[in-house]
Amino acid sequence: MVVGAAAEGLVTRHTGAMRRRKRPDGAEARSRAGRSRRRGRALRFDQRLLRRGLELAATDRVLELGYDDLETPLLLVSGTVADEVPAPRQVVSLRPTVDLVEELQRQGASGRSTPAAFEVRLADTIPATDVGSYEVVLLLAPHYLGNERVRTDIASAHRALRPDGVLFFQTHRRQGGETFVRYVTERFGHVELLAIRGGHRLYRASRGPEAPASASDEGERETVVLQETVRGLTISLETQAGVFSRRRFDTASRLLAETMQIGPADEVADLGCGAGLLGIVAARLAPQGAVVLLDNRVQTVALAKRNLRRNGVANATVQLSDGLQAVGRRTFDVIVSNPPLHEGGVYRTTPAERFVAAAAVHLRPRGQLFVVGPRTLPLPRLAAPHFDECEVVTADRVNVVWRCRRPPATRAQESIPMLE
Ligand SMILES: C[S@@+](CC[C@H](N)C(=O)[O-])C[C@H]1O[C@@H](n2cnc3c(N)ncnc32)[C@H](O)[C@@H]1O
Repeated sequence: MVVGAAAEGLVTRHTGAMRRRKRPDGAEARSRAGRSRRRGRALRFDQRLLRRGLELAATDRVLELGYDDLETPLLLVSGTVADEVPAPRQVVSLRPTVDLVEELQRQGASGRSTPAAFEVRLADTIPATDVGSYEVVLLLAPHYLGNERVRTDIASAHRALRPDGVLFFQTHRRQGGETFVRYVTERFGHVELLAIRGGHRLYRASRGPEAPASASDEGERETVVLQETVRGLTISLETQAGVFSRRRFDTASRLLAETMQIGPADEVADLGCGAGLLGIVAARLAPQGAVVLLDNRVQTVALAKRNLRRNGVANATVQLSDGLQAVGRRTFDVIVSNPPLHEGGVYRTTPAERFVAAAAVHLRPRGQLFVVGPRTLPLPRLAAPHFDECEVVTADRVNVVWRCRRPPATRAQESIPMLE
């Protein structure tokens, strides 16, 4: 049930009923990417909505879950959201990827001195020590990570709040809004619509006087174990809400896993490893070699580590890394990747472009990059500045696997420039 509205527009009744037909993961992801591409905007708090609806006290401790929005936490700590919204006592921002944390820390540090204490943490769950410790949680619905992930975040927000603490929650009408309001209603018992602007809505829900029941987020996370055969190998993968292709092995990843060429003693990097499918297959194909799996998300790194153990893989490690940054100057015989094709829910080829450029720097002479992507991905054009040679290895109706090769050694290549 939705009560009250203090903004332009009329109160919309949210019955919570969801009539849209469920579509397979891939179709949903593609249509989300298509809609986001048309709008071309990443997920952000709408500052005008916050100005109209947000209420804070100077004594508040605020938990801010804003994904790729790096502007709002800085406005909160500096007390410049609106004249009547003071800087709270402390703002804690959680970000799920290492690059977002570094960028927000950099911007926070370079900003002028602010009245509020500010802490940025690499995390996507609420630690037990934080349960029941915030007066306010400010949450963006990360629609592009899927409904289950948003539901988990709402549960985390509920757990993080002190008795009578308040959640401020922003959704978009066409990005799961009705469903997410239903989730908040289920958890908090009620939702109040504060402000509407365009498709965006700002809601408030109060936690109620009872103390938090559970000390951990983990129980909220639905874990699925997938088992499939790839290249004659049985691979078992644990996945969770918010992780790429969590219901089945992705068809593009599978195409790459079936066709990537890896020698028995190769050193291999799996760039953007997700739950670890490509890295695990690579490790099995290179029993005398070594594999490093890299991902920028704290959640997938933890999963990939568990999946190495689950599959008895001893010749591979997992590292949290923005691109190949964490490997320093290490080079590889082969790099494999199913690169991300969006940033903050918006379709972009920039991440793939960055992956290809970084791979070129970290491949040995004659080293090979195997990349899979949809036919629409202009991989040869993205790779042209970095590789002389790129060819199609295989393709199905939707996806293509490309191989780009480094030339034999030249004197110039003996010292590796750092690209990232
Ligand atoms: C399309 S998924 C592929 C996952 C996995 N390799 C598979 O095939 O199932 C892309 C992965 O890249 C990761 N990623 C996105 N940006 C990244 C970055 N800057 N550095 C490292 N990994 C990144 C995402 O977290 C995601 O797990």
